[in-house]
Amino acid sequence: MTVVISFTNQKGGVGKTTGAVNFAALAARILGPDQVALIDLDQQGNASASFLGNEIAMREKPNFDDPTIAEVLQSDLSLLDAARVVELPELKWKNKIPASTLHIMPGTGYLKQLEGPLNQGINELETLHDKITEIDGQYKLIVADCPPNLSGLMANALVASDWVVIPITPGQFEIDGLTKLTQAMIRFKAKLNDRLAVIGVWPNKVRQTTLARNTFEAALGIRELAPQLYPFEKVLLPATYDRVAVGDAQSYQSDVMAHEPNSKSAAEFRNLTAEILRRAGLIG
Ligand SMILES: Nc1ncnc2c1ncn2[C@@H]1O[C@H](COP(=O)(O)OP(=O)(O)OP(=O)(O)O)[C@@H](O)[C@H]1O
Ligand SMILES: [Mg+2]
Repeated sequence: MTVVISFTNQKGGVGKTTGAVNFAALAARILGPDQVALIDLDQQGNASASFLGNEIAMREKPNFDDPTIAEVLQSDLSLLDAARVVELPELKWKNKIPASTLHIMPGTGYLKQLEGPLNQGINELETLHDKITEIDGQYKLIVADCPPNLSGLMANALVASDWVVIPITPGQFEIDGLTKLTQAMIRFKAKLNDRLAVIGVWPNKVRQTTLARNTFEAALGIRELAPQLYPFEKVLLPATYDRVAVGDAQSYQSDVMAHEPNSKSAAEFRNLTAEILRRAGLIG
């Protein structure tokens, strides 16, 4: 059975893409070559560009000879038809970390056609779930990067997911957003996907400030709203701090672990990844 984990928050700029990219790349190194796929559901195509460059991400028209996730969701094509294989180099970090491969189903500007509020964009909420079911077992793990709105594409991700990671950053309105997202997920769980659960709320871009502390402490209370959605007593996942290494890795089309394996940022993303994989039952 393939485990599906989505990085979701309707708020922009909190780290969905950064989290999905770094988690997927590290997970691919831990779970082995060809065992992890990253699906980019955002028309900005940032997750795709992180490994494949801008060209595919900028595409505005369909191309069924070279399909991406947008063409797959609109046709009989399989997710495997859209998979690009990214080589992850061997790393010299304490023990040697062997090379691996990560599969990416890219997102493009053309996803706009499927985007839009529920009932105006993609109407079928189970399309992605059905596509994943068709290839069940092909991957140990599928990671989805979601767009920053409660759209048809995000709905598709919520229907297809076993687990959701919710990134939050320090801020005044973070808890309002978290509450709204939780309320939406309660409805999805009741009506469309009873497997759906939050694997954890991930504090990202953390700084040593009172605002940051208050935000993340307030997040701890979210479990009371929907204990059925938050199976883990520890709501918060290991935090990642606001670090230059994150942007540096992105500008080199790399993940933090590959770019700066000895950085504090890499250590934080290793902790985060290990905890998510443990909670999902993918490692012991
Ligand atoms: N821990 C971090 N330290 C420093 N910069 C970070 C960190 N996490 C994310 N960023 C930066 O913050 C910006 C937003 O991050 P990201 O694109 O991952 O957010 P997002 O939630 O996917 O945004 P969107 O909603 O637009 O898709 C990026 O420029 C990214 O490099
Ligand atoms: Mg993003």
